Amino acid sequence: MALTGLHHVHLKARDLPGTLAFTSDFGLVEAGRSSDGKVYLRGAGSAAYHVVLESADTSSLAGLAFGVDSREDLQRAISQYSGTRLALSGPGGGEAVQLTDPEGIPVHLVYGVAERKPDPLPDPMIFNQGGNNQPRKGVPQVLPELAPPALFRLGHIGLFVRNFAACDAWYREVLGLLPSDQMWVGQPSNMIGGFYRINRGKEFVDHHTVAMFAFGKSDLHHLSFEVQNSAVQFRSHRWLERKGHKLVWGVGRHIKGSHVFDVWRCPSGYRFETFSDTDLFDADYPVSVYNVSEGADMDAWSDRAAAAYFE
Ligand SMILES: [Fe+2]
Repeated sequence: MALTGLHHVHLKARDLPGTLAFTSDFGLVEAGRSSDGKVYLRGAGSAAYHVVLESADTSSLAGLAFGVDSREDLQRAISQYSGTRLALSGPGGGEAVQLTDPEGIPVHLVYGVAERKPDPLPDPMIFNQGGNNQPRKGVPQVLPELAPPALFRLGHIGLFVRNFAACDAWYREVLGLLPSDQMWVGQPSNMIGGFYRINRGKEFVDHHTVAMFAFGKSDLHHLSFEVQNSAVQFRSHRWLERKGHKLVWGVGRHIKGSHVFDVWRCPSGYRFETFSDTDLFDADYPVSVYNVSEGADMDAWSDRAAAAYFE
């Protein structure tokens, strides 16, 4: 399967008004509403939407959606994996096929969703880095007012899973994901988690589009949106703090993938993350496998415990 990346995440929200107030401060913009109460949220980039929210008594992950290259990929999902065809009624239309992962989570493959004209994205910031690397001369760094950040795209998700071995096999076989890093506990054959990227051949892609952790439940761990750089993340961190939102962890720098992260919790319980400056690998890059007890340090910038990241 030739995935183009993550398309959207569908979430049932126990506090829809509270979550919409949070997502507005986080940088997501309402792109439309359906007659049955679904709210579609987009970022500043070309994607028609990244998140579908719907009100429910309890919060739960209602589905994941990945883009594919062609209608033939949809057809293959039907013939090889017994997928069922779906009409997409959100902004940009399009078509989809629904599969179900080993945890019972609906996984949609989507094609033909019309993209929007992206907002004008900020110019690259020019950083003086000492020595001979000081390209910004005679030009003050322009720091905008505190405001929600421009979210370029939905980059990756983390999942809690019950059966890691089954999910590892399914996401690799059916979606063609490639492992970038995998972790074991006790002995190397006892894998308990991993970071997976899409297979685009020679094209360089994010270190991971899906992360999975064996955790005794099937749930969304977090969803993560790309922003311009860490300076933007420190500013958006301060903005979310000022707005009274609940910090989970950050600003920090992960060891695996080496991206800068900042994670906040919405009133329905979901963790929303920004990331920047992630490692990029092509399909040839080899997997790294490590003992989780030796890879427990998840933040290169601090010794703060990551407990809140997994509560
Ligand atoms: Fe992440």
